[in-house]
Amino acid sequence: MAELFAVTFNRTDHPMTAEEIVKKSDGVTVLVPTVTDAINKTLLQALPDCVKMIANFGVGFNHIDLSIAKTRGIIVTNTPDVLTEDTADLTLALMIAVPRRISEGERVLRSGDWNGWEPTFMLGKRFSGKTLGIIGLGRIGRAVARRAAGFGLKIHYHNRNRLPKKLEEELGVIWRGCLNQMLAEIDFLSIHCPLTPDTENLINGERMDQLQPHAVIINTARGGILDEDALIDRLKSGHLAGVGLDVYSDEPKINPKLLSLPNVMTLPHLGSATDEGRIAMGQRVIDNILSFLKLGVPGDLIENI
Ligand code: DGY
Repeated sequence: MAELFAVTFNRTDHPMTAEEIVKKSDGVTVLVPTVTDAINKTLLQALPDCVKMIANFGVGFNHIDLSIAKTRGIIVTNTPDVLTEDTADLTLALMIAVPRRISEGERVLRSGDWNGWEPTFMLGKRFSGKTLGIIGLGRIGRAVARRAAGFGLKIHYHNRNRLPKKLEEELGVIWRGCLNQMLAEIDFLSIHCPLTPDTENLINGERMDQLQPHAVIINTARGGILDEDALIDRLKSGHLAGVGLDVYSDEPKINPKLLSLPNVMTLPHLGSATDEGRIAMGQRVIDNILSFLKLGVPGDLIENI
């Protein structure tokens, strides 16, 4: 970016305050936030008129108030595609690790409490051949479906719109129009929809109660889609077998109760965290800025609501 543009960087890995962002935006045409910068109404209204584009470094854009951006005449882009495979890999890692108790097993070993192989020690549940339910069969959901098929999982999906039959056949997925019915029949639930007002707390206590007690939930999308308090209650009472989480409702804060439960595997929002992915995300940001500056239309334009 420094080779191409006059740039003011945040050279730390920590988010800037809203005041700092506004101050540093003086004379700036393009703002490049990450997914931890809250580009909310107050900040957007305080931005100087020179800001014409928000080129988000990340695919999720729930941290940006699109409608206020629109009223300010600011276009918004994101970085789809380039983190799909990494996020799907991490999703599968959690999906296998939770029923096979991989993180729990490592904790036992490191604590020095392992006495050697025993026939009934730390038995988990088989992963292969089970039924997976995917909410949101977009890019990442499909990449998860492709991987899950390799493990012999039967794959059901719930999506705002049904996919064309040909694509369903290619992916080997079964459409479930009724989310509650799908929940009642699956062994694993993996969440891959964006966080929007419609999906906030989509998986609430009532929906969790539709799941079978041996079911496992995996969330690598956004924490706000899952009601964490309801989740903790059900994990404690045995109404859910386990959960694998990479995202949380109030990151980086984590409900300490989640950390105290053995059947919970928690990762610190690592879905897209690979060297290759980060470089590709940066390149995508640059491509979007260049096409905006040259053609007026960036490739990954998010349609403002
Ligand atoms: C995203 O891009 O939305 C991920 O959550 C972080 O890379």
